[in-house]
Amino acid sequence: QVLSNPEFLAEGSAIHDLLAPDRVLIGGDETIEGSLAIKKLSWIYEHWVPKEKILTTNTWSSELSKLVANAFLAQRISSINTISAICESTGASVSEVAKAVGLDSRIGPKFLNASIGFGGSCFQKDVYNLIYLAESLKLEPVAQYWLQVIKINDWQRERFAQMIVQNLFGSVSGKKIAIYGFAFKKDTADTRESSSIYVCRYLIAEGASLHIYDPKVTSDRIHLDLSEQTGLSERELRNHVKIANEPYEAAKDSHAIVICTEWDEFTKLDYELIYSTMQKPSFLFDGRLILDHDHLVSMGFNVFCVGKKPPKNQFLNQSPL
Ligand code: UGA
Repeated sequence: QVLSNPEFLAEGSAIHDLLAPDRVLIGGDETIEGSLAIKKLSWIYEHWVPKEKILTTNTWSSELSKLVANAFLAQRISSINTISAICESTGASVSEVAKAVGLDSRIGPKFLNASIGFGGSCFQKDVYNLIYLAESLKLEPVAQYWLQVIKINDWQRERFAQMIVQNLFGSVSGKKIAIYGFAFKKDTADTRESSSIYVCRYLIAEGASLHIYDPKVTSDRIHLDLSEQTGLSERELRNHVKIANEPYEAAKDSHAIVICTEWDEFTKLDYELIYSTMQKPSFLFDGRLILDHDHLVSMGFNVFCVGKKPPKNQFLNQSPL
């Protein structure tokens, strides 16, 4: 018998997810042999998972549920990211909106953090799988609906990169920009489909000189990802990209810091010190909403982030050198 037993492990919490899953899903043929096989696999899980959390279904339901779970999570992120754009123009704060909306127990608080777009090896692939399935079944409106989740994600990445260029007086050519974070999320060295790659690609095309720092991603990996995305050889790329061993070095003499991954260590840095070593005016773009923006503004930073109107008073005492 062939059974379907999709996993719902997330990077960084895989062992916890395995030991205490929200549910275990086992799909199989609707035959006597199929149901015997399902029972056997279920028996293994019953050693540590409560029986009511083990769902048994037919194969199609099980396989489709895996795609739909990832598609729904991705859709929530794209949904809140569309709202982040409205917040930037109106003065609403996307974190406040997400909190207010997420407190509705029917909606829930998870996966409502606005960002520079979701990355990772799974979300985009699984949404595309769903789109492909809908197209194969000639369900064009369904395919178009899910395609928007991907389109919004691409748009959010580009919108953030444009925000950087526009606020650096319309050009980043020859400007040093520190990129904080290259992994697709914190607590992993994985860069697959990381939104950082797309932001960096845009800034490189605009002529910026990037100094990238990530606590876990290797410099070879960063060069390989960017070379694949930009079409530049690794040698050409080295003219645009330097890898820093620590965040202070990356920020020294830079015009701007760009937070791409929500690593905890970025919240604990000495931004007064960092500010003192940067070009003036100094800019900070928070793509993950992890820093205390008012505090940064009080130090002298010009701060821009997804889902929040830039603080009004930040251009005081900030004339370019
Ligand atoms: C995801 C699912 O969460 C797992 O349940 C699933 O098993 C796994 O894919 C898979 O199919 O193998 P993972 O890709 O490890 O897990 O990462 P997530 O924690 O889901 O984050 C995905 C992306 O969304 C990251 O770039 C993250 O930064 C972003 N994200 C997440 C947001 O932008 N906002 C949020 O509120 C949450």
